[in-house]
Amino acid sequence: MLAIIGGTGLTQMQGLKVISSQQMTTPWGSPSADVVKGELAGRPVLFLARHGHPHRTPPHKVNYRANLWALKEAGATAIIAVNAVGGISSNCEPAGLMIPDQIIDYTYGREHTYFADDLESVTHIDFSWPYDEPLRQLILQQAQVLDIALLAKGTYAATQGPRLETAAEIKRLANDGCDIVGMTGMPEAALARELELPYACIALVVNMAAGLTDEIITMADIEEALQNGMGKVLSLLDQTIQA
Ligand code: HPA
Repeated sequence: MLAIIGGTGLTQMQGLKVISSQQMTTPWGSPSADVVKGELAGRPVLFLARHGHPHRTPPHKVNYRANLWALKEAGATAIIAVNAVGGISSNCEPAGLMIPDQIIDYTYGREHTYFADDLESVTHIDFSWPYDEPLRQLILQQAQVLDIALLAKGTYAATQGPRLETAAEIKRLANDGCDIVGMTGMPEAALARELELPYACIALVVNMAAGLTDEIITMADIEEALQNGMGKVLSLLDQTIQA
């Protein structure tokens, strides 16, 4: 069963026929919100609002371990994460979509592994390709079916937040080879890998990253891009679930 983790702008799944909404607890604490079991396009699906519903938990405070654990326990066999991001590469414009294929992790101080305490042996997961390629390809194929233009690969920079970056930080990320920047891509992707859950990301660009335009970044601009782009994300999820 596919699970969707909704980020900023997606705390509730439009079109989801809710079957149950369960408050779960895990050995790692409580997830951000109830795990919603439902049907989307006639297919069973799980939904979790990453920042809670209503949106309350900032990126650095999200209990990523509890979120992924709860989804697995609820029966998830694969995860599509939806992330609002800033665009760094010149082809990443507000309201555009990217299905990233790489990550650089700049976060710190987050609980980022299940392999932390009382271990019989230390486990180093392979993370060369942080996203599940078959799941990525499935999303890309469905985007083609729907004729939704998107960027088929790119590198996601995961920053700590909750503040946005400085212009110099974005310059550094660009030099590092990052195409988009968000605050929630990690440790989520790595924890999914630790739980052996195939994981892919639909990134919605909601602003040009800091210093790339003459303007400062306002929440109003971000809201507008969310409004303009989230419809495409929802159609893509709907189509992917049916595939
Ligand atoms: N930086 C980091 N995270 C973000 C941004 C950004 O510019 N936009 C949306 N999430």
